Amino acid sequence: MESPYIQLGREAGVKLLAERFYGFMDTLPEASTIRAMHAGDLAPMTEKLAVFLTGWMGGPERYRERFGRVIIPAAHEPFEIGAAERDSWLLCMRRALESVEADEELTELLMSSFWQMADMCRTRSD
Ligand code: HEM
Repeated sequence: MESPYIQLGREAGVKLLAERFYGFMDTLPEASTIRAMHAGDLAPMTEKLAVFLTGWMGGPERYRERFGRVIIPAAHEPFEIGAAERDSWLLCMRRALESVEADEELTELLMSSFWQMADMCRTRSD
């Protein structure tokens, strides 16, 4: 099976997914709490998420090339993240996958990996 990176359309496809993701975070009322944790300008984070996901989905390790190593749960330690914040993040990602018309099977596969990663980013057990 082709990697999610290839299935989504390589770097341009993954970048589009990151753009849509932050677009939903910026506009969905359900995401207002997590939107407020981010800087006003979402462009730098869109770029970081795009390059991170490129490697994570089986493409080139662009995040490491540009920013060095990252441990995702550790990068989230400064923030208040409980189940509600995790679920808002996942909602934005599901909407983003729908909006780029990702294949259904791919969407479910990615969402289960995102769930695990997002759950590890929790800093509150609620
Ligand atoms: C669980 C819910 C999550 C919340 C509420 C959240 C929120 C945040 C916030 C507030 C930042 C810092 C933004 C800034 O500096 O302006 C950040 C950084 C980041 N997040 Fe998340 N995040 C979540 C889950 C995830 C997941 C599941 C991934 C990856 C699959 C991810 C990937 C990243 C990356 C790559 C960065 C940049 C790290 C860096 O370079 O410092 N996040 N996130």
